Amino acid sequence: MTQDSRLKTLDYLYCAVDKQKRITIFNNRKLKIRKKGGVGNIMEITITSNYDEMSKVSAQLIAQEIQRKHDIVLGLATGDTPVGTYKELVKIHKEEGLDFSKVKSFNLDEYLGLAPLHKNSYNYFMWENLFKHININPENVYIPQGNIKDPEQFCIWYEEQIKKVGGIDLQVLGIGRDGHIGFNEPGSSFASRTRIKALYKQTIEDNARFFDKMEDVPRFAITIGIGTIMEAEKILLIANGKNKADVCAKFIEGPVTSQITASALQLHSYVNVVLDKDAASKLKRTEYYNWVRDNKHLIQKEIGR
Ligand code: GLP
Repeated sequence: MTQDSRLKTLDYLYCAVDKQKRITIFNNRKLKIRKKGGVGNIMEITITSNYDEMSKVSAQLIAQEIQRKHDIVLGLATGDTPVGTYKELVKIHKEEGLDFSKVKSFNLDEYLGLAPLHKNSYNYFMWENLFKHININPENVYIPQGNIKDPEQFCIWYEEQIKKVGGIDLQVLGIGRDGHIGFNEPGSSFASRTRIKALYKQTIEDNARFFDKMEDVPRFAITIGIGTIMEAEKILLIANGKNKADVCAKFIEGPVTSQITASALQLHSYVNVVLDKDAASKLKRTEYYNWVRDNKHLIQKEIGR
């Protein structure tokens, strides 16, 4: 079997999307995305029974990548969704010695105007929920600085730092109810880079729960762009809860559109989506995703591994 036909087999077995999308993904890979070649191109959907299981499965996936490459470059997300994943990672670090000493991390975004020590800043969130509990070197932690004097210059610098370390190996993402990843709100260009973005009304309302008053919720943020996210070697998106069900169905099974920026992931060559059953409740092809996940051994047998 030639390398190309092996890849084709995998595309057909793994890509949990309809025919048209499969063709788009395959063509796209041929054109540009598969930088390193080899088998293993996937968009795999894992449906877990609840938030705790989603957190465990996603933490295991991250831990495996860290064990595979000790100096991995992680892209990290904030929000309620990854709190459990980070807790699990801390547990793996403490109980099994998962080593973060060589890991580098770049956070997706930060509210414009918030100082790093502000209790609602994403910087504060990351240190509270993950960094202060593991052995990461603070010099290897990159988080956009919300109160920087020249944010535009900062965005250029941030992109340069990502390039300097050779790009992101594993990008962890949550998803907003309007389909955003990072703070790439509807209509964001798929080629976008780190920049300042005005927040969508729904996002401002959703984030109001963390602030004392509605007026305190920032209207702008610094965010890595869709173009930057799409250059990550691997992507892991996690989502839970009924309030994410509509958007998960749209970004996984709907058309690729800048109106749901997470749908750009359909064009990426290696995406793991881990959902709890509530977030997966509006997907149409659940049975298929479960079958593919449970029958990986058949795929491996098919391709002779
Ligand atoms: C914010 C963050 C996103 C995150 C989203 C969802 O907008 N910028 O990175 O995915 O919130 O948050 P939650 O996990 O709390 O639903």
